[in-house]
Amino acid sequence: MTAPVLSVAGLQKRFGGLLAVDGVSLGLVPGELHAVIGPNGAGKTTLIHLLSGALAPSAGTVLLDGRDITRLAMNRRVRLGLARSYQITSLFPNFTVLENLALAVQGAGGRHDAVRARAELETIGLASRGDQRAGALAHGERRQLELGLALATGARILLLDEPMAGMAAEEAARIVGLIEALKGRRTILLVEHDMDAVFRLADRITTLVYGRVIASGTPDEIRRHPEVRRAYLGEEVAA
Ligand SMILES: Nc1ncnc2c1ncn2[C@@H]1O[C@H](COP(=O)(O)OP(=O)(O)OP(=O)(O)O)[C@@H](O)[C@H]1O
Ligand SMILES: [Mg+2]
Repeated sequence: MTAPVLSVAGLQKRFGGLLAVDGVSLGLVPGELHAVIGPNGAGKTTLIHLLSGALAPSAGTVLLDGRDITRLAMNRRVRLGLARSYQITSLFPNFTVLENLALAVQGAGGRHDAVRARAELETIGLASRGDQRAGALAHGERRQLELGLALATGARILLLDEPMAGMAAEEAARIVGLIEALKGRRTILLVEHDMDAVFRLADRITTLVYGRVIASGTPDEIRRHPEVRRAYLGEEVAA
């Protein structure tokens, strides 16, 4: 089997008396889209924080290309090709769409590169919005731009936390299309509650409940998994 580009082993995050992430081990092989699903409060966002370096784990290790990055600062991880998008939007509202993208390129160690930023603008389907203030974008467009910011860093590995959250069906479909177009070219960890999107996009799915992995497998395996159905999927997904 191909060696994982990003992996965690025995990862744990404690908030006071709560184990938000409780002994999680998983690996992403190059080019795969690995979805992480689970009920509210399962620890999905916390897991992304631990991978991105926004939080330090209480125990366990994070490996990137086999190298231990458990204690590496977030900006250093970005320079190694690991980028995230946020569940909560994080744009500079008074800057234009293009400026936001150029800043992301620059932040990742590139030059302030208007050409790169323009190219990303095309990729994310916001070509006509470049000169608009980011703060004036519609919600769905703002989420598209956030995905663009993660892409603009040139990241090989994208950590996406609910990129479709709060979107109308049409906007969500656009994001699914965008992610589909990236498939195979980047390694993607996708946290998402939209099960249609997850089952359409994912190569593998890991299910978290109360901070623990209860199942990991192909979409078919997860769809049929009794414990996953009981804990999360319920009637949402037909077997
Ligand atoms: N900074 C924090 N301090 C204390 N508790 C926290 C903190 N961040 C998260 N938690 C708790 O840890 C648990 C996991 O939260 P997390 O946000 O990772 O869940 P999630 O799976 O992303 O949920 P959702 O699907 O609602 O986004 C929750 O019980 C949450 O209340
Ligand atoms: Mg979350």
